[in-house]
Amino acid sequence: MKDTPFHLAAGRTRRLAPAAALAVITAVAGLALAYDQYSTDGNTGNCATCHGDFRASPYTSKVDGLSWGNDLHDVHRNNMLGSDCNACHYGERFPTFIGRAPGGNGLAGYSCSGCHGRSQDGTGTGTAGFGAGLRQLHWRGGTTSCVNCHADSNPASKTPVGENILPPFYASPGTGHTIPNNPCNPAPAFVENYAASTLGLDNDGDGTFDALDSQCSTAGATPGEVSRGGLPQLLVTAHNPVTRLMAISYGPACTSTDNTIYYGPLSTVSTYGYSGQQCAIGNTGAYTWNYPASPAAFFFLVAGRNGTNEGPYGQSSAGSERPPYALNAVCPLPQDLAKRCE
Ligand code: HEC
Ligand code: HEC
Ligand code: HEC
Ligand code: HEC
Repeated sequence: MKDTPFHLAAGRTRRLAPAAALAVITAVAGLALAYDQYSTDGNTGNCATCHGDFRASPYTSKVDGLSWGNDLHDVHRNNMLGSDCNACHYGERFPTFIGRAPGGNGLAGYSCSGCHGRSQDGTGTGTAGFGAGLRQLHWRGGTTSCVNCHADSNPASKTPVGENILPPFYASPGTGHTIPNNPCNPAPAFVENYAASTLGLDNDGDGTFDALDSQCSTAGATPGEVSRGGLPQLLVTAHNPVTRLMAISYGPACTSTDNTIYYGPLSTVSTYGYSGQQCAIGNTGAYTWNYPASPAAFFFLVAGRNGTNEGPYGQSSAGSERPPYALNAVCPLPQDLAKRCE
């Protein structure tokens, strides 16, 4: 169903203020705001000016010029999102907002920005900022108009997080969807490919796609997080308080070759008040630690490392990275989370 006049009427009713004195201001604001949606009328305007009607088949990719053999709508909603309309739509199907939606089954209400943006680039207001990489890809391709409303479209004004950083829906795909789980789109699975070539998305918009992006190459990658995601949890498997021997097991992180235990008094756990470390515990996933007599009550964590870099210390319950032990004079190594391998 395409009912353009109705759409225009609906859009106008919402935006025009009843008082004539306000009409000019409202019309200007309405013009800018209208670009938070895919098209202005269901067929044309905004993104549809170049990408066409979202429901027109077959779509021809703007990236590689190949036909998808199907339309953008069906490939997205059926092949990726299991017919979960709420991932992009409010009850009325028009307009479709780029950065907000009710949210599908287990999906945040991010709409397109859930896959075409990264929360780490966000400014803290809704999804604003998420799409910096998407806008910079447009900029590099010659579509500079996004900068009229988004300063982050110009690569000189912001460096988006790396290609390897997961868009929020990749990290948290909800239920009943087939969403890519790796923005590096590695062979042979090519998880970002649903149509035409195996080329996926250039998530950080630096002009280099997928595995060709240096942030995706495993050469030079830094260790990931110990016991993350599906890896075995950090556990105390045996403990003798008399001999102060504690057996622990953990899931070694990707690319790590060794691990370090960091500990501190239990009273400072919330501020990560580390007071010492046990270096070189190996990378087998098990270690028997002869821990110090002091502090009597302590917290500890395990961080992976390779020859050149230390990996992350894991995340706080609020989701931020725990700080590294700044006073580590015994086995210091620089931490680099930008090229972490997971
Ligand atoms: C002026 C034309 C134009 C407009 C307007 C436009 N695009 Fe694009 N888009 C392109 C071109 C061209 C490409 C291919 C990359 C390049 O060369 O810039 C592209 C690429 C893309 C991609 C592929 C990204 C990737 O990582 O491969 C997505 C997604 C996209 N656009 C979404 C949008 C959305 C959403 C809007 C509206 C907010 C929009 N585009 C507006 C021209 C446009
Ligand atoms: C990936 C996001 C996405 C999903 C999921 C999705 N749609 Fe859409 N849909 C769109 C976009 C984008 C448009 C174009 C709207 C526009 O131009 O502003 C659209 C347009 C439509 C339209 C035409 C609206 C109009 O009046 O012009 C209908 C009807 C529709 N979708 C139904 C559905 C139904 C039913 C589902 C679930 C089975 C669904 N869509 C799932 C993105 C999505
Ligand atoms: C579930 C993740 C997901 C969501 C949500 C999503 N996209 Fe996409 N989109 C992708 C992937 C992955 C591709 C690349 C598919 C391929 O190349 O086979 C893509 C491709 C595209 C392209 C084609 C780029 C080209 O090659 O020309 C456009 C345009 C686009 N998306 C727009 C949107 C818009 C607009 C929305 C919201 C209404 C949206 N997408 C929501 C994952 C998503
Ligand atoms: C006329 C002003 C205007 C232009 C031009 C414009 N946008 Fe937006 N865009 C908005 C507004 C307003 C919002 C909603 C508020 C926000 O999130 O910043 C928005 C939101 C977005 C979002 C969701 C928030 C985020 O950062 O993920 C994306 C993605 C987006 N725009 C992409 C683009 C792209 C790509 C272009 C250029 C092709 C573009 N926009 C051009 C006004 C504009």
